[in-house]
Amino acid sequence: MIPYGKHHIDEDDIQAVVKVLKSGALTQGPVVEEFEIAISKYVGSKFAVAVSSGTNALHLAYKVGGVKSGRSILTSPITFVATANAAKYCGGDVNFVDIDPKTINLSPNALTKFINEINNVNVIVPVHFAGLPCDMPAIKNIADNSNAVVIEDASHALGAIYPSGKYVGSCENSLMTVFSFHPVKSIAAGEGGVITTNDETVYRHLLRLRSHGINKLDDQLILKDQAFSNGQKNPWYYEMQELGFNYRITDIQCGLAISQLSKLDKFISKRRQLAKIYDEEFLKMSNCYPIHSQNRELSSHHLYVLQIDFDKISINRAELMNELKKRGIGSQVHYLPITNHPYYKNTVTSLQPEAAKYYSKALSIPLFYDLQSSEQEKVISAFLELVG
Ligand SMILES: Cc1ncc(COP(=O)(O)O)c(C=O)c1O
Repeated sequence: MIPYGKHHIDEDDIQAVVKVLKSGALTQGPVVEEFEIAISKYVGSKFAVAVSSGTNALHLAYKVGGVKSGRSILTSPITFVATANAAKYCGGDVNFVDIDPKTINLSPNALTKFINEINNVNVIVPVHFAGLPCDMPAIKNIADNSNAVVIEDASHALGAIYPSGKYVGSCENSLMTVFSFHPVKSIAAGEGGVITTNDETVYRHLLRLRSHGINKLDDQLILKDQAFSNGQKNPWYYEMQELGFNYRITDIQCGLAISQLSKLDKFISKRRQLAKIYDEEFLKMSNCYPIHSQNRELSSHHLYVLQIDFDKISINRAELMNELKKRGIGSQVHYLPITNHPYYKNTVTSLQPEAAKYYSKALSIPLFYDLQSSEQEKVISAFLELVG
C-alpha cells in the first residue's frame, strides 16, 4: 500500500540514535539543547523549547499566552483537533473562524468580522494548513487591534517560508510558533514538538512549565529563607513555583530529530518536485484540482490535497477511497471540520460555509520523500480512470 504520508529514515538517523543510547544520558542530557539550538538557527528565532509532542507544545504555548477559564482562542476549523483541544486543557474556550477558499487558511476577513462579536479572545491561532503560510501581517494587525496575541500552529510547516523571505518559526508576526515531529510531518522524532519565540520571559516560563513548574536557569527563588544558608544557595534546593507538567522530550528523540533536521531542505525540495509533477497532471483534469498550486515556493508540502467535484462524477468520496485502496493507494481527508466532531458540535461559533465547501471536496493523496515515480504514475492513472 502506498500511504498518503510517511517518514524517511536512513543509516545516519539510526547511528544518531545509537550514539545517544551509548552516551549514558537518555533524557535531560545535552542533546535536547543541541536540538533546540539547531531549530532556532534554522528558523531564525532567538529561543526554542523542545517538548514531548506538538499537542503538548500547544498546551504550554497557550498557557503562557494566557488561555484560561473565561478566555478563548480563535482558530480555523480545518485543522487537527489538537489545535483546539490544547485550549480546553487550559480551561479556555475555542471559537472558529471560516477559511479563505484560496489558501484553506484562516481568513483575515472572517477574522475581522467575528473578533468584534466576541470579547474574550486573547489568542489567535493561525494554522499553516498543509505547509502553506497564513497571511501573518494581516492576522497580526487584527490581533494588535484586539489586544490578542498570536500563536502559530506550524505543525505542518517546518521549512515553509513567508512571502517576506523569513522562515515560519522566526515569529516575525507572533509571540510563539509551535511545530510537531510526528512521523508524517516535515521531520520525525517519533513523537515531539518545539515552541519557538523571541521573548526571553516567554522562553523561561516555557522551560519551567515543561518540567513541573520548577525553577530553571537563574530564575529568582521565592522562599529565600529555605533557599539560602549564609547567603549561598543551598546545593540541594529547587522549588516548584507553579503547576507545570512533565512534557520533557528525551535525548533519544532529539538525536533522531537533529539528524532529520540536517536533511530537511532535501526532504522539502523532493516534496516540492513531486507536488509540481502532480500539479501538471491534475490541473489538466476537469473534475478535480489541487489546492496551493500557485504557492509551491513558500510551502513545506506537508500534504497534497485535491478538491474533487463529486457532483460531476459517478462515485462518492467513500467509494473513491475504497477504489484507490483496492489499487494499493492510501488517501485521507484533512480534515473533518472540528465543529463536526461530537465533542465540539455545540460550540457557539460563526458560520463557516467555505470550510464546509472545502471539506465536501477534499482528499489528500500520497506525498512523501520516498514516493517513487512509478508509484506517483500509479496514483495519477488511478485518478484519470476514476475521476477523469
Ligand atoms: C495542525 C496540527 N496541530 C497539532 C498537531 C499535534 O501534534 P502532535 O501529533 O505532535 O501532538 C498536529 C498533528 O497531527 C497537527 O496536524
